[in-house]
Amino acid sequence: MDLTARSINPLTVKTDCLIVPVPADNTLSSATACIDEATGGLITRRLKSKDISGACGSLLMLHEPAGLNAQRLLLIGTGVSGTVSAGAFQKAARAAAKRVNGSNIITVATLLHETPIDDKKTSWAAEQVARQLLEASYVFIHGQDKPPSPSKLKKVTLICSSKKQLEQSKEGLIFGHAVGIGTNQARLLGDLPANTCTPAYLVKLSRALARKQSNISCQVLSEKQMADLGMGSLLSVTAGTEQPAHLITLDYKGGKKGAKPIVLVGKGVTFDSGGISLKPGAKMDEMKYDMCGAASVFGVMEALAASALPINVIGLVPAVENMPSGKATKPGDVVKSMSGQTIEVLNTDAEGRLILCDALSYAARYKPDTVIDIATLTGACVVALGAHASGLYSNDDELAAELLNAGMQSGDRAWQMPLWDEYNQQLKSNFADMGNIGGAGGGSITAACFLSRFTKEYRWAHLDIAGTAWLSAGPKGATGRPVPLLMEYLRTRSQA
Ligand code: BES
Ligand code: MN
Ligand code: ZN
Repeated sequence: MDLTARSINPLTVKTDCLIVPVPADNTLSSATACIDEATGGLITRRLKSKDISGACGSLLMLHEPAGLNAQRLLLIGTGVSGTVSAGAFQKAARAAAKRVNGSNIITVATLLHETPIDDKKTSWAAEQVARQLLEASYVFIHGQDKPPSPSKLKKVTLICSSKKQLEQSKEGLIFGHAVGIGTNQARLLGDLPANTCTPAYLVKLSRALARKQSNISCQVLSEKQMADLGMGSLLSVTAGTEQPAHLITLDYKGGKKGAKPIVLVGKGVTFDSGGISLKPGAKMDEMKYDMCGAASVFGVMEALAASALPINVIGLVPAVENMPSGKATKPGDVVKSMSGQTIEVLNTDAEGRLILCDALSYAARYKPDTVIDIATLTGACVVALGAHASGLYSNDDELAAELLNAGMQSGDRAWQMPLWDEYNQQLKSNFADMGNIGGAGGGSITAACFLSRFTKEYRWAHLDIAGTAWLSAGPKGATGRPVPLLMEYLRTRSQA
């Protein structure tokens, strides 16, 4: 998809589809009013006749509008005239993107980004238009190993009326395009079945990424190397499967030489059966999504390459499969983590924290500025926050505030939860330094408390994305979250 911003006349632009915002109260913006006039009042008439309400996300496709060079005129409701909320703008842009992607339209010109939005600049609006168009083009086709583009849409032009708007639109398009690519990459990896997307598959993907991008390198540790490092906790999870585990490092060097990196650690359980603490059968297929934390790390790496953000970022992915077998770890087994702390594995289904704790200890060797782990960690987080916000935990309030803000800015929201000592106490074990579960209540919090015991050396945050990484209702599928949140955070950090 080719995205450009240009100073052109919307009345004469040659395009398959001109997209124009209309508010519910019929007070047209000056650009829309011009188009209305050129078409002999077509827009006002359609609003009057209630063929389109102007409610946010409502739409009407008009064909061969007289007075324009465009083949089609797509009216998109923005709800109100004057400034609209950021959420409403995203909704309107998403509606437009879905409509043009599910059609024969090859070229689009749009004025959507001209809509004034609360506390947002044109660059933000342009970014959203790019993001929504890319995300709407995503379709999962089995057997592919690249982000798909079955959409016919090839060329998108943002029509600009001033030099400032043009500059901002260009900037927003580049970043939005990168976020869209990264989000779709994360969705594809999430949607891949677990018999395709194995730990070995993620290794292959990492090597291919490093080959393709000159500023990304890749390193992979084998089970033997992990054993030598003392990663007894991580290795206890892979004991029952035939698939070898790997610890993948992706190193993006966009920043100054020697500048401390931000390390992203993504839970990469390519299938979580629960192990000996076997899960019930219902919805077990969805545990192919238990590598969505890892998928978001891969998505961010793609987006970093596409946007060339000046920052150093390391992606760490512990990739394992959690299966029952005669060799599998059993409830009550005690394992020793790389940190030296011992863990009583009370439930083999609480495996995410067991792989993450060793990956988090390993992260310290990169002398990180900040470490953020991303994990489909607990069903309890889905109970607490549903599908709308990711659970956020941090040992640093400033970092928590930055991530919350990045979530608000991108529309990929998180909500902060506590790491209080009372919860931490729930992890007590009679037979080891800690148990891997915290008993009744606060399951997402006790999981985060478990991780916090391995992250004392650096500034750290944890995102529990169990509720946000995929949708099980409606059209089932991965969302690519929290790639938009992470990219917004990294962009802000790269500018600081
Ligand atoms: N991957 C799951 C968490 C999960 C479950 C995410 C359902 C999304 C939907 C994780 O490994 C797990 O099984 N967690 C257990 C922990 C429990 C045994 C303390 C859970 O949440 O039930
Ligand atoms: Mn589990
Ligand atoms: Zn899991």
